[in-house]
This record gives sequence, C-alpha cells and structure tokens, in this order.
Amino acid sequence: MAIIERPQSSEGSLLRDGTDLHDLVDADFGRISRRIYGDPEIFELEMERIFRRAWLFIGHESEVPEPGDYVTRDLAGEPIIMVRDDDTEEIGAFLNSCRHRGMRVCRADKDNVAFMRCAYHGWTYATNGDLRAAFAEELYDEEHLKKEELGLIPVTKVASYHGMVFGTWDENAPDLEDYLGDMKFYLDLLVGRSPTGFRVVGAPQVWEVNTNWKFATDNFTGDNAHLPTTHGSMVELQMLPPDPMAFSYGTMIDTTKGHVLHMVPGPPNPDGYYFGLPPEQVDGLKATLSQAHQDIARDHFISVGTVFPNLSYLQVMVSSVMGGPPAPFLNWRMWVPTGPHSTKIYSWFFIENNASAEYLKDSYECYVRTFGPSGIYEQDDMENWEECTRVNVGKIAQQYDLHHGMNMHLEPNPDWKGPGIAYPTSYGEMTQVAYYANWLRWMTEDDPTSDKVQK
Ligand code: FES
Ligand code: FE
Repeated sequence: MAIIERPQSSEGSLLRDGTDLHDLVDADFGRISRRIYGDPEIFELEMERIFRRAWLFIGHESEVPEPGDYVTRDLAGEPIIMVRDDDTEEIGAFLNSCRHRGMRVCRADKDNVAFMRCAYHGWTYATNGDLRAAFAEELYDEEHLKKEELGLIPVTKVASYHGMVFGTWDENAPDLEDYLGDMKFYLDLLVGRSPTGFRVVGAPQVWEVNTNWKFATDNFTGDNAHLPTTHGSMVELQMLPPDPMAFSYGTMIDTTKGHVLHMVPGPPNPDGYYFGLPPEQVDGLKATLSQAHQDIARDHFISVGTVFPNLSYLQVMVSSVMGGPPAPFLNWRMWVPTGPHSTKIYSWFFIENNASAEYLKDSYECYVRTFGPSGIYEQDDMENWEECTRVNVGKIAQQYDLHHGMNMHLEPNPDWKGPGIAYPTSYGEMTQVAYYANWLRWMTEDDPTSDKVQK
C-alpha cells in the first residue's frame, strides 16, 4: 500500500510568499536571514528535506547491551525504538507505532523485554519487529491477518560507526561512512581512540529549551567568541583565563559536508595534551590511532563540533569548581527540533570502557557541573539561544540579516595534519557559514550529499 505523501509546502527553493531560500543564506559574504530561525514554513521544509533524508543519531550501542534491551528515541519527528534482538543480538530500529491503530508500542524511555506488546489491544511484536500475535486471531480470515506483512515498520537504513548508531528514513541516502566523509577522522579521535571502546554512563539527560535548533548547532560549530562574555562569570571566578586572546589560537575545520569542528590547543607542554586524558587512555590512543591523529591529540585539549544536521560534541577539560583541578570529559548531545521555537536536548556522557573509577568519577562530576542541564556553562548558553529565538521572530528584526563575517578573509592552513579545510584561528565564523551553506544545499538540492565542495 502506498504511503501518502505529505503535501509540499513550497515548490523548489521558493517559499509561499515568493522568497527564494537562496536569498536567505549568503555564504560568500556571511549574512544569514533571521527568518530561518523560526518561520513555520521553513521549519516544515527542514523536517521534510533535512531530517527525513539525513542520517540522524539514534544512540550508542552500549545503551542496549543485553538481548531485549530497548530505548525509545525520535527520528525526524517520529517516535522510534532501538532494540537489541534477543535472538540474533543485532540492533534494530523501528517506528514506535502499532500496525493496528498506531498506538505507541514501547512507552518507557528504556526497558528490557522478551517481546513488545501494545497496550491498546495487545498486538505483540518480537524484538526483531515481527508481529507474533494479535488479539483474537481466530476471528480473522487468513488474508486479513498476514502477520508476515504486519511487523513494526523498520527505520529505512540503520548503521553504526564506533558504536554510534545512526538511522535515516531515506532509501536513497548514501552509506553512513560516505555521509560522514572526512568527519570520520575526527570521530576516530573522539570515540575510536580506545582499544576497549566507549560506553554511555547512565541514561541521557533530556530537557526542552525554547530555542530554534540551529542556535544550538550554530554555537557548537566552534564558537569561541562567546566565551569571554557569555561565560564571563567563569572568567571572574578565575575558572577561565582573563585574556580574551587565550581563546583565539585554535583551528576551525570545515569537512565540506556540513560537519564542522574546532580544536583548541593548550599552552606549550613538552608532554603534550591528549585532551587531558589519564596516562592509560593516552597509551590506548597511541596504540589505536594513526600518527596524524596522535599529533593532533598531542597538541589539543578541547574540541567542539557538529555532525550535520543536529549531533554535537564537547571534548572538554575544564574546572567545575573554583580552585579545583580541571577534568576531561566527552559529552555528545543531540538537538531534536520539536517546533520552530522549541528543541529537545539529549545529552550523553561517554567514557572509555577501561576507565578507572577515579577518572570516571572526576569526569562525570565535571560534565554534570559544567554542561549538564543545570551546569554552570550550559545555563549561560541556553539563555542566549532562547533570547535569540524570541527576538529574531520580529517582523522588523527580520528586515535585517544576521552577521557571520568574522575572519572570512583567512586562508586555510595547508600544514594541518587532518582532513578538511582548516583555518588557523579560534575566532572566526567560517565554519558556521560552511554549516549554513550545507543547510541551504539540503533545503534546495535533490542530491545534497554529492561530493561537490561547499564553501
Ligand atoms: Fe496496538 Fe490495537 S493499537 S493492538
Ligand atoms: Fe558556551
């Protein structure tokens, strides 16, 4: 049976009022229309053209370690289940909707089950999605209950990279590794650096913020320019350095497929930085990764970035209490759009499987105190994103574009040891502009994943 297509809200790149989407993003000069951060029609187009076509993060394999484990998530506005089959132990992902009346089948955030039974009339599904039993099966003619055709609807494509599970609803999507492109090199640095692999600790923290989702990704493209002001209280408490230029010496990288990141070096250190990881983890990194990876890890202690469209990370080493020693942590977060002006944030704490109890404790506490939902940094950031969202919907405000022009003249560093276009600064808006140029491709092109380099 054919799936009914949702009506298109606009044709090609033209919005209903005749505005061309191309006029909303000037990637050459760094001007972005405020309209993209809250217009309901643009939001609907984002769901249709970006979220229902792109590879989106679902969760980490360690969240469903045992047969029958499931977690419930969101994939492009649709509820889904990620479940480890109790027979094959493979991870599958399905629309969380019963084939009878569409009821949500799995209603917990997380559980372990022998089967998945719908709470409405009791239709029961195996952990591989197959329909096992319907209520009063004897009352159906054979052709009215073909159980082999009535399993849970699978996510169209599911794949994982270093244990990170992604899914897409688009049957024409490229393979996940093609989609990630050069970002794989940097994912290796984050979640492929330990011979023992990584795990998620606890459940993700989940909260809702009244912001357009792109203000979060905009901040996580590597925006260091907000540190001295937004997080000025941390400077006053001497938890960040007082000199604004201390934040300026990094490298901003455009991997050319919308995935962008930022690497921040520490002051000269003969032993290197390796993100501030404990010696055991540094040894694992050296044993696992290429020389280029090792050289980059040696010189840097912070990295922030975004996998297009809405998965971001923080590999950070900061103090979480006044006068306290800094601790490193790896935090992944997903910005799930729930409306033009609202975003559900998922935030996961990752750590190497062989982490010592001391490293785990220090790292987890630092994450919660700094970038958990009530963290001393996170609260500052959310205040900005909510206010930007409120103000930018104004019709007067929308007559004036937003300014993304810092350091746009800067030439890339040809000697950077990793892939991508690497700009030798931490103060620039070229990665943000690269992200928006890719956003525009997805919003206007039939094949936004071709290898054409974006700028
Ligand atoms: Fe699921 Fe009826 S809606 S059994
Ligand atoms: Fe911040």
